[in-house]
Amino acid sequence: MKVKIHTLFQYLLETVDAQPEAIVGFSLAESPRLGEFLDDLDPDLSLDWNNRDFSGLPELKAHVLAQAGLTGICTPADVLVTAGAAEANYLVLMQLLQDGDEIVVETPGWPQAEVIAKAKGVQITRVTRQEAQGWALPLDRLRDAVTDRTKLIFLTNPNNPTGDLMDRAALEEIVEIADRVGAWLLVDEVYAGLEWDGPRAPSIAGMYARGITTGSVSKALGLQGLRTGWLVCPDAELIRDAVILRENASEIMNIMGEVIAEIALRPERYAPAMDKARAEGSANLARMNDWVAAQEGLGWVAPRAGLIGLGRLLDDVDSDAFARFLLADPYRTFLLPGSSYDQPQHIRLGVGGGKAANLDDGLARLSRALRDYPKAGG
Ligand SMILES: Cc1ncc(COP(=O)(O)O)c(C=O)c1O
Repeated sequence: MKVKIHTLFQYLLETVDAQPEAIVGFSLAESPRLGEFLDDLDPDLSLDWNNRDFSGLPELKAHVLAQAGLTGICTPADVLVTAGAAEANYLVLMQLLQDGDEIVVETPGWPQAEVIAKAKGVQITRVTRQEAQGWALPLDRLRDAVTDRTKLIFLTNPNNPTGDLMDRAALEEIVEIADRVGAWLLVDEVYAGLEWDGPRAPSIAGMYARGITTGSVSKALGLQGLRTGWLVCPDAELIRDAVILRENASEIMNIMGEVIAEIALRPERYAPAMDKARAEGSANLARMNDWVAAQEGLGWVAPRAGLIGLGRLLDDVDSDAFARFLLADPYRTFLLPGSSYDQPQHIRLGVGGGKAANLDDGLARLSRALRDYPKAGG
């Protein structure tokens, strides 16, 4: 079956020409400029592939393990460098899921797993995170949802879009649930490293023989355009299957992505970059919290980690119609409607982009739009 468009991507496609004057939805830290890397780039670098390893530059793979706290727990052979966490997820979903299998996903969550599972004719079971429970994943429901036919459990930690964060104890329980039936467990950690409430959670690849960690340099480091991410899994066959599929798609990584990501993840660069992303993210989050508290028509559960969370609109306001109202004159402000996540009563609020995001301007526009939006029956 064909891969069908999801409402999230549909909205991005439909609004790409809108030329907003403000964005209240940045999901990544402010992106560095190429010039910041020039001093460490070798002008003699061959623009052929890396010529050393089909699964990625060895020194980059070592950094990937280090940033995930997996050095000495997983080995470089457990790492595959990919075109972002998106490709890492894709390779796993395509190779693991077969017709007749079942997948368990969370909702709200990152839609990629459902999109691919649908195209592959896989039975999808959703476990619902409830706002009233702070968007925590209900583990009793997860336990009920996982059966002998479950091939894969697909989760995000921190969660996109709510910013919920699962700790070691929760992950251990999920491992036990997966292990009971021998299911694979993929935890997408693309937002890891930006925790506001509690420490960074351990990576699942270090906790379970069928645990798969995916991540990238896109979010905390703001390097989304490099298209460089990874998957980590202690199962050699899973990595090999992913390499085989990749060979038949993009074949190898792009060398500039690998080289710049390797520089960005060197400890002497990574630590200050993360300090900056955390300082700017938490400053914007504090402003967002104050602003939400002052709005009559909006509430939210603040993200415990990551740069996005869901704002709840008044009962009679449809998020899709509101997002389009906000994008039009005179507000000219972009954000993602919650309909992108099957949450039609919510909007996605982002605190990324650092100082350059000019959050105050976007929030002032959003306040005006919330005030002006026609009330039902009004
Ligand atoms: C949970 C999640 N996974 C994967 C991706 C894709 O990220 P990447 O740029 O690393 O491919 C995103 C991007 O928004 C995301 O939020």
